[in-house]
Amino acid sequence: MSLLSVDELAVTFGGRGMREVNAVSGVSFSVDEGQVVGLVGESGCGKSVTSLALMGLLPNKGVRVGGRAMFRTGRGETVDLLTLGRSALRDLRGTQLAMIFQDPLSSLNPVVPIGVQVTEILTRHRGLRGQAARKEAAHLLDRVGIPDPTRRLKEYPHQLSGGMRQRALIAMAVACAPRLLIADEPTTALDVTIQAQILELLKELVDDQGTALLMITHDLGVVAGMCDTVNVLYAGKVVEAAGRRPLFAAPAHPYAHGLLGSIPRLDAPRGERLNPIRGSINDTIAWQDGCAFAPRCDFYVDECLRGTPQLAALPRGADGHDVRCVNPVMTGPPETTTLLDKPPTSSEEAAQDSASDGDGKGPEAGAGTDEDTGTDSGTEASA
Ligand SMILES: Nc1ncnc2c1ncn2[C@@H]1O[C@H](COP(=O)(O)OP(=O)(O)O)[C@@H](O)[C@H]1O
Ligand code: SF4
Ligand SMILES: [Mg+2]
Repeated sequence: MSLLSVDELAVTFGGRGMREVNAVSGVSFSVDEGQVVGLVGESGCGKSVTSLALMGLLPNKGVRVGGRAMFRTGRGETVDLLTLGRSALRDLRGTQLAMIFQDPLSSLNPVVPIGVQVTEILTRHRGLRGQAARKEAAHLLDRVGIPDPTRRLKEYPHQLSGGMRQRALIAMAVACAPRLLIADEPTTALDVTIQAQILELLKELVDDQGTALLMITHDLGVVAGMCDTVNVLYAGKVVEAAGRRPLFAAPAHPYAHGLLGSIPRLDAPRGERLNPIRGSINDTIAWQDGCAFAPRCDFYVDECLRGTPQLAALPRGADGHDVRCVNPVMTGPPETTTLLDKPPTSSEEAAQDSASDGDGKGPEAGAGTDEDTGTDSGTEASA
């Protein structure tokens, strides 16, 4: 069984007399131990609401949450994160589950020195106090690349740069070696050179600790550089789920295909126009009336408005390549795609290593990861 298995997660906002908003309406995916799983989509598609629901951080009032999110704890129990009581969830957060948010400044308490904020976690979850807690806090800051950690511990969040604040938050998130780390656009607020350093750091930490990472992003470059499997979200539903390589080699959902086609490339002929997806996420129809992407879709056929398309295995696709579309794109990647040139993720490297062990069995019989499909995908189709 997967470490986390999310099945038909639905989140609806709207209290009495308010218009209802179906922020997330049937999101299913899974995360295996040590895996890096991407949740990607444009702004407003439900990425943050999904992560907040998993962490139990949605407000109590005016929100309805449905579905299941089964999480296997370090004690061998399986719990549903969506129905677990507040105090049980609080116990899981930190030791088992941790989250890094987009904006490090608003996630840190501005009037409390960094050191106090880090040592509080060490005291609460690891029972460390006094000198031992301060020593471990300095060690953690050092580990995430913050120079002169003993001095930095005495400083307030506003005295640190944006990149250092995000590093401090990562130190707090990994302080108890959680089994699952959820990173919600952790680099969006940072400039590009710092972004690359933070992603590298996250990768190192998940490799060292065996932590699984749910990487939430709107940036396909981040997905291409890090994720083993990818779930593409559109208007609150997963519309395509696949291993990283099959997704980038042959995106099948017109939205995923369009996302890849709209990435600028340096070697394009001068004056060549970008190919953006037309319209915006507001040009949508309700899923119960058909495919929400229909108003923007170049592959539209009449069948698209005959009920909600279901997430189903792609005909002739790699194992675990699922798509929610009645007329998927079967022509391979758009010409503008460049991201496949990225180096393989660690699990793909493992697959390549096992393929070259000379045991003659090939990657399928090795690490359980297929170099062509690039995944041992635990991604589940939802129906
Ligand atoms: N507190 C809220 N009340 C009403 N609607 C909300 C609330 N929070 C988020 N939403 C709506 O839920 C949808 C998904 O939001 P969000 O998960 O923040 O998107 P993303 O993180 O993908 O940019 C959006 O349409 C947003 O307007
Ligand atoms: S179901 Fe139809 S409208 Fe929706 S993405 Fe597929 S082809 Fe386009
Ligand atoms: Mg968000």
